This record gives sequence, C-alpha cells and structure tokens, in this order.
Amino acid sequence: MMSKTEIALKERIKELTCLYEVSSIIVNADVGAMTETLRAIAISLKKGFQFPESTEIIIETPLQIYKTSNKDLKNYITATINVFNNPKGKIIASLTNNEATFLKEEQPLLDNVTLKLGNLLERIEIQQNERSLKRQMERADRLGILGEITAGIAHELNTPLANILGFAELLKDNLDSDTTASEDVDKIISNAIFSREIVKKLMFFACEMPQEMQEVNIVPSIKNAIALLDASFKKNGVKYIVKIEDETLLLKADTIQLTQIIFNLIINAIYFSPKGGLVTIEAQQTINCIILKVMDEGPGLTDTAMEKVFQPFFTTKPTGDGSGLGLSVVHGIVASHNGSITVENNENKGATFTVKLPKS
Ligand SMILES: Nc1ncnc2c1ncn2[C@@H]1O[C@H](COP(=O)(O)OP(=O)(O)OP(=O)(O)O)[C@@H](O)[C@H]1O
Ligand SMILES: [Mg+2]
Repeated sequence: MMSKTEIALKERIKELTCLYEVSSIIVNADVGAMTETLRAIAISLKKGFQFPESTEIIIETPLQIYKTSNKDLKNYITATINVFNNPKGKIIASLTNNEATFLKEEQPLLDNVTLKLGNLLERIEIQQNERSLKRQMERADRLGILGEITAGIAHELNTPLANILGFAELLKDNLDSDTTASEDVDKIISNAIFSREIVKKLMFFACEMPQEMQEVNIVPSIKNAIALLDASFKKNGVKYIVKIEDETLLLKADTIQLTQIIFNLIINAIYFSPKGGLVTIEAQQTINCIILKVMDEGPGLTDTAMEKVFQPFFTTKPTGDGSGLGLSVVHGIVASHNGSITVENNENKGATFTVKLPKS
C-alpha cells in the first residue's frame, strides 16, 4: 500500500509530466497538422489524470474537434480556450466510471493545458494575419509597378494616336464622301477613337488624369448615377435598393470621377447578377471617411479573380463583352483620392466591393 502522501506525490508527477509534454507538443506543433497536434495533446492530458483508463478528453477548436472517445459525458470538468481574450472553444475531461471523481488539482491541470492551447491558436492567428498582410502588400506592389509601366505606355501612345486621328480627319476632308476611300478613312478614325478611349482608361489607372477636386455633397451625384442606370437594371431584370445614411455626405472629390466609380461598380454588379437578383448600394460616413458599398448576388469571384480584379485587361467576360479596364479605372481614381478599394465574397452569394474615401 502506498501512503496518501505517496499517492498525492505520484499524481503531482503525472500532472507535471503532462504539462511538460503538452508544452513540447505545442512548441513543435506543425500548423498544417492541427488534428495530429490536438490528438497528441488529448492523449498527454488523459495520462495526466488520476484514472487515465476511464478519463476521456474532448478538444473543441473553431476548426476542429478531437475526441478520445464517443461515450456520453456524465461526470465532467471543462475549461474555455481563449484566443486574444475571446472564447474560441473548450477542453472537456469526463469520467466514464460513475464512482470516480476528479481531484481538486485536476481542474487547474485542465486550465493550464487549455491556456497553452490558446497560446498556440493565438500564434497561428498571428502567422495567418502576417501572411495575408504580406499578400496584400505584394498585390499593392504589383499594381504600383503595373501603374508605372502603364503610365509610360499610355504617354507614348497618346501623341501618335492624336496624330493618326488628326491626319485621318484632314485626309477625310480632302476625299469625296460616299467613296470607298472615305469609308476606309472613317474606319481608321473610329478605331483611333476606340484606342484613345483605352489609353484614357489606362491613364486613369495610372492616376495620370487631371482632377478637379471640390468639397461637395456627394449624395446627389450618387443618386444621379443610379437614376441613369435604372433602365439598365430594368433591362436585365435586376432589382436594387439604395441605402444612404445621410442626405448630406461631404467629400473632397472630383464628382465626374466619383460617378465613374459608381458606374463601373454597378455595371459589373448588374452584369454578374442573376435574373431577379438584388443589388444593394450603400453610402455611409465615419468621422474621417465616406464608405461606398456595392453588393450583388452573382457568382462572386474565384481566387484568381480576387488576385487580379484591379489589374488592367483582366476580364472573365467573353471576348467583345468587356476590356477588363473598368475596375482598373476605379482603382486608379480611388488611389488618386487617397482612398482604398477592397472586394470580398459574401457569405451567402455574390461579391461586395467597398470603397473608402478620406473626407479631406
Ligand atoms: N460584381 C462582380 N461579380 C463577380 N465578378 C466580378 C464582379 N465585378 C468584377 N468582377 C470580375 O472582375 C473582372 C474585371 O472587372 P472589370 O470591371 O475591370 O472589367 P470587365 O467588367 O470584365 O470589363 P469592362 O469593365 O472593361 O467592360 C470581371 O471580368 C469579373 O471577372
Ligand atoms: Mg466592368
């Protein structure tokens, strides 16, 4: 027979061994193999209790649940896993033997292991945030470089295009109308105008367009733009609601460019909406900025589209339907207003584009 002190001492050693094991599991945890980590923790923890054979462990985290057995829980103790002070799951230890009870030291043991697991989950969250921040910065970098190249190309093309247009118009004046030659010159002119429009859009993307910044109430501009698109909504069988928080939303902006932002976002939303789908247009303000949102119920964006939406010429529309410059223009305008634009898929269906523009 062991003495009471001996038994107590043995339990303490088991608990300390358990804590030591859990610590090393957590230090060596591979973020990609969480199930394995949870399993190892559960098994270590089980061994730390007074009656390992009749103690079962359940670990619940936001992404995974690990159970050492599927038996019903009767007699159990539990501890909450906190991640940055928010409850994010729990660890439960239960006794399958009805006669047995938990020692008073066993709750602190469970608390301790739970705390360590919480620390691991915090570490993972920090890593994930860092990774997504890095991706965002890389994306911004790429768009920045693309902007510089684009600005260069647009600049170089602008003068020759203006020359093509000018000389073609001179030529047309010297030709009898209704001749094949005159029709051919018309084609040169319309193609040159088309190319000029593309160059103009590229210049928007590269923030190279002149601006007329004024402090204005943007609510009428927003309502105007939406009114102009009313026919387009009807034609495509798409419904819309407008939620504008205030009748006055003051912003220092170029109103024509602001209209272009709204136009492009809504036209995309209509294009990608199913019949009978709803487009929600929102405008709100915080102390420092104006927030515009356009939400739809379309297919949303694939991972590739998420990466590339704002790059010039990225389009998933069939050839002839779009040039992939709409959102590049929007991105350029937003950047030249020192704002930001983001896109995310809705939980249910569709995508939400959010534009934030600083008030001054
Ligand atoms: N609301 C949306 N839902 C789903 N995908 C979208 C949405 N808006 C944009 N996209 C994706 O982003 C791509 C680029 O959009 P963007 O407006 O820049 O060009 P586009 O609409 O394809 O052509 P353009 O605007 O020049 O006519 C689209 O082709 C589509 O793949
Ligand atoms: Mg578009």
